Amino acid sequence: MSGSVSLYTDKASLYDVDYLSKDYAVEATFLQQLICNAIQYSPAEKPHLLDVACGTGNHLQFLQEMFVCTGIDLNSSMLAIAKQKIPQAIFQQADMTNFDLAEKFDVIICLFSSLYYLLDTALITRTLQMFVRHLTSNGMIIIEPWLTPDKYEEGKCAVQANQTANVSLTRLSVSRRQRDVALIDMYYTVYDGKNVTSFQDTHAFLLLPHTVLQGIFDSLGYATEVIMKAPFQERGLIVAKAK
Ligand SMILES: C[S@@+](CC[C@H](N)C(=O)[O-])C[C@H]1O[C@@H](n2cnc3c(N)ncnc32)[C@H](O)[C@@H]1O
Repeated sequence: MSGSVSLYTDKASLYDVDYLSKDYAVEATFLQQLICNAIQYSPAEKPHLLDVACGTGNHLQFLQEMFVCTGIDLNSSMLAIAKQKIPQAIFQQADMTNFDLAEKFDVIICLFSSLYYLLDTALITRTLQMFVRHLTSNGMIIIEPWLTPDKYEEGKCAVQANQTANVSLTRLSVSRRQRDVALIDMYYTVYDGKNVTSFQDTHAFLLLPHTVLQGIFDSLGYATEVIMKAPFQERGLIVAKAK
């Protein structure tokens, strides 16, 4: 589960260093175009967008030009960083499996495989019901899934290093698998200008064929499309709209 991931809790200040090379601006531009082509809205009024598991607000900082933005996340340390970046957005600490914002949104996004931290389909179904409850009748939901079981490789090792003016961070990750759960062990080393420290996280993601998520959406009355295009060519996007 993600509750014990240090990078989202006591080490949250390192999240943006770890993902320094992820191009959030390009991803946000792609999402913006996708949404513009799919939903109709009055140019006089910005559509309302909810980012579920918004993390440190890296997509919202670009999307806020076009949308009235709200972000929710389980972890307050991530939200504190997001709030600093985008003071005009609304942020709330909430668990995606059970939240009530008393508002409906034109667009709900849940990116970077965050939904797949929920390790069973019953919990995912309940969460998608939450999304639907918060969506306007002609709104859309965009999910960036985790890798499908056929694409996931066990025993894969990756190494990366990032540096900012204040901190250097290396990450070695190794993939393994337990039944239908992908486990990624991440070993970090940090230099903050004074000390070298290290910590370890394990991320657990549900391995689920896209057809299963599409089946859940179908049962909720939503038609889906899978998009495998850059910059989302690796994990893809699942886009859902009411039938
Ligand atoms: C991989 S990060 C993605 C953050 C952001 N969307 C991005 O693309 O950079 C996963 C995020 O999911 C959040 N998260 C994990 N489980 C959650 C849950 N049950 N409810 C809400 N947020 C959750 C974590 O706190 C973390 O910020």
